[in-house]
Amino acid sequence: MSATSRTSLQGLWSSRTAFVLAVSGSAVGLGNLWKFPYIAGEYGGGAFVFFYLLCVFGIGLPMMVSEVMLGRRGRRNPIATMRLLGEEEASNHWWRLVGLTGVLSGFVILSFYSVVAGWSLEYVVQTARGSFTDSEPRAVAANFEALTGDWPRLILWHSIFMGMTVMIVANGVRDGLERAVRILMPLLLILLLILVSFAASTGELGQAMGFLFKPDFKQFSAEGALVALGHAFFTLSLGMGAVMAYGAYLPKDASITATSVAVVLVDTLVALLATLVVFPMVFAFGLDPAAGPGLVFETLPLAFGRMELGSMFGAFFFVVLATAALTSAIGLLEPAVAWLTETTRVPRSWATVGLGLVVWSLGLLTIFSFNMLADVRFWQGTLYNNLEHVTVNILLPLVGLAITVFASWVMCGNSSAEELDDDESPLAYTVWRFLARFVAPAGVAIVFLNAVTSSPGIS
Ligand code: TRP
Repeated sequence: MSATSRTSLQGLWSSRTAFVLAVSGSAVGLGNLWKFPYIAGEYGGGAFVFFYLLCVFGIGLPMMVSEVMLGRRGRRNPIATMRLLGEEEASNHWWRLVGLTGVLSGFVILSFYSVVAGWSLEYVVQTARGSFTDSEPRAVAANFEALTGDWPRLILWHSIFMGMTVMIVANGVRDGLERAVRILMPLLLILLLILVSFAASTGELGQAMGFLFKPDFKQFSAEGALVALGHAFFTLSLGMGAVMAYGAYLPKDASITATSVAVVLVDTLVALLATLVVFPMVFAFGLDPAAGPGLVFETLPLAFGRMELGSMFGAFFFVVLATAALTSAIGLLEPAVAWLTETTRVPRSWATVGLGLVVWSLGLLTIFSFNMLADVRFWQGTLYNNLEHVTVNILLPLVGLAITVFASWVMCGNSSAEELDDDESPLAYTVWRFLARFVAPAGVAIVFLNAVTSSPGIS
């Protein structure tokens, strides 16, 4: 069978727009709304944002094009696709290990991602109830600590979130994933715009803009550069086979470069909008922009508790956070589900429930790292810290690097040119190949070496 006549066993997206929504849905997540604002705050604002944009477009974009391209060419789950293309292009079936590592890391990441998503569900309820009205910083921090210590509650929210994820994925590409992102993504964007206008009217928009967009390179450090680069992969969902799995369902006539550019733009826009929600309030209420990971759960509630309509606004914010996490979670589960249904005869619904249960059980490790097992510490810290470090800082850059090298060095130029349609845009193809061959691998190598040699703290 020729490479271009393969079909996907899971069906296809109904259109190019559906694909853009799905990949943006996987890209826009906790990374954009929770992590990006706090790292931008911690690493000095403008200069960090500037460098982050360079990484996203110079390294993230060509990596995304590579992943989508391999996915569409193989038209299978990431493990089978890497095996098939490895055999075709290099007579080497070991490339399947790259797919396998990616799928496994997605699986592990989902286990802790779901726990954090659960926190935002809890905060929807708390803010809506007005729990933070006029509360003091110490009370808000104690509240967060009480939540992470309350394991039955964490298990409850983790179960609810995993349940929603499984329900969507079990329904398949068109009736599950596509239907979900078609509803959730526009909802998310509208809510986010409402939040920005609200933050702009109650907060210090001008000061926030200055902080974020006036680069002051004296504030910028090498560590900040590494964090920016690492975050560029994470936010674009690269290096995990997720984008490859979604690429397998992309109709043949859709342009890979154009759709990837659209996804990267949406993801970047949402990250910037998130900072425009968070920082005007941080400045208006005299909070610390460099508060770190607690920015969203410990600092923002203070602002919500002190402003008019804060309960409603706060509940909105956490709904947005949970929605963004949900469209990412389905992207983390899909590759493993595709793999299981394609390699065994297990029907999709059972495969999803079974894998969902495995992820759910793994998530208990993260939950207990905050309470019962908080004293079990080694290497990077708690069990959760170690899981996160190995997957996000080590496996993800490694798999991303392997995929990009495969697409631009190992795969023959005719195959990639055919898939990327270089007649239509020879310039885009040339730019992609240059960035993918030289710039992206150099960038990944830097992040990777740093992650392996450094102590905790890059994520
Ligand atoms: N991009 C997601 C975020 O910003 C997280 C993520 C990383 C992800 N890799 C993924 C989501 C793979 C789905 C699939 O929060």
